[in-house]
Amino acid sequence: MTEELCRSAPGGGKLYPFNGVWPKLGKGVFIAPGARIIGDVEIGDNSSIWFNCVLRGDVEAIRIGKGTNIQDNTVIHVDGRGIKTIIGDNVLVGHSAMIHGTTIEDKGFVGFCAVTMDGSHVENEGMLAAGSLLSPSKRVKSRELWAGRPAQKFRDLNDEALKGMMAGTVGYQELARKYLKEYSF
Ligand SMILES: CC(C)(COP(=O)(O)OP(=O)(O)OC[C@H]1O[C@@H](n2cnc3c(N)ncnc32)[C@H](O)[C@@H]1OP(=O)(O)O)[C@@H](O)C(=O)NCCC(=O)NCCS
Repeated sequence: MTEELCRSAPGGGKLYPFNGVWPKLGKGVFIAPGARIIGDVEIGDNSSIWFNCVLRGDVEAIRIGKGTNIQDNTVIHVDGRGIKTIIGDNVLVGHSAMIHGTTIEDKGFVGFCAVTMDGSHVENEGMLAAGSLLSPSKRVKSRELWAGRPAQKFRDLNDEALKGMMAGTVGYQELARKYLKEYSF
């Protein structure tokens, strides 16, 4: 009997094993069609991974918390020297981001087309602007906005900005619930 190459996830995306390890999904997770999740990846309840993302946990682990959204075409990888990618709860990662060996704490925000390199870190409620490049080992502190290539501190975030970031995250949680209903094959 041939071994199973992949399984369909809720929503239609695909899960692949690597080295005998399958991705693990919490309750209410939505994996959109075209998304591929490989190996040692764990995704917490009510998180969503959108169309054509690749999350490859082969040479290290990827962990994603609850209520987080990883938007279309984003690539998440790790580094075999022990550098994992750890993403917390209620994080927003915009379209076409490249997240490589990075920690993003709860309520962090990574704008679309941003790149984060090995050992970089976004603290709780930190924000990386669209199109930024966060160099290796750089750290966006809590409630700071960083932008540019290479990214540098742009300004502090006020309560209004933080509200807007959270509204985006909650919006994606609602959208994922709707997709899950419609895409239950
Ligand atoms: C950074 C951001 C929050 C805008 O901040 P802002 O303070 O409102 O910026 P403004 O539009 O008033 O522009 C202020 C200056 O910053 C520059 N700027 C705006 N966005 C920038 C970015 N992403 N990177 C670098 N510079 C940026 C503007 O060009 C402008 O420069 P100038 O003063 O020389 O004219 C916004 O551009 C952003 O990145 N949002 C994230 C969107 C996203 O990725 N969403 C996820 C998908 S849903």
